[in-house]
Amino acid sequence: MRIIDLAPNDEPGIHRAANLLLAAFAGRWPLDLEAATEEVRDSLQPGHICRVAMNEADEVLGWISAIPRYGEPPHVTAWELHPLAVDPLNQGQGIGRALVADLEQQVASRGAVTLYVMTDDIDNSTSLGGIDLYDDLLTHLQTVRSLGDHPLAFYRKCGFAVVGVIPDADGVGKPDILLAKRIAQ
Ligand SMILES: CC(C)(COP(=O)(O)OP(=O)(O)OC[C@H]1O[C@@H](n2cnc3c(N)ncnc32)[C@H](O)[C@@H]1OP(=O)(O)O)[C@@H](O)C(=O)NCCC(=O)NCCS
Repeated sequence: MRIIDLAPNDEPGIHRAANLLLAAFAGRWPLDLEAATEEVRDSLQPGHICRVAMNEADEVLGWISAIPRYGEPPHVTAWELHPLAVDPLNQGQGIGRALVADLEQQVASRGAVTLYVMTDDIDNSTSLGGIDLYDDLLTHLQTVRSLGDHPLAFYRKCGFAVVGVIPDADGVGKPDILLAKRIAQ
């Protein structure tokens, strides 16, 4: 497997990345192919980072992108990881972890100190879902855990720490959880 930039003019690659996004988020993020393709094109705009994991047959196995959020180019200090998707048939083989590690190198080489990700809980798949977070928020945050296959556990294994939450971000009881990681220079 190799991890490379997705080129803005690589139409077959864009198509494959969009289909992968659809498959990876099926049932969790209401996307159609047009919206998924738009998402991939968004990640290809100048100044963003867009990387794909390919196998020897040039199939896209995974896709990761990052948006410069704090500071001004070329001195961006913090990047938002968005999105990350691994082909469902190839999950659980270390591809997600490899894509995150590669992205860390990418942002480190640009001088960043922070990489963060926001991950929704729209289906009570963490202990922060389905409750009133305004009631004793910090205790809930301290004890947050995954209740199903929410990617919270994945990001923790990649070294991210839970640093915040937006209560009711996607509706009552549907928070958006913020995780961040210090980037080694
Ligand atoms: C989350 C996702 C990117 C993980 O990719 P992956 O290639 O399957 O993950 P890896 O094989 O690199 O896993 C690394 C570690 O995290 C663990 N892990 C991966 N997904 C997990 C999950 N949903 N819950 C708990 N642990 C998980 C693995 O077991 C592995 O642990 P180990 O090192 O102890 O063996 C992938 O499942 C995916 O694309 N999911 C759908 C889209 C999504 O949720 N994206 C993130 C949105 S913020």
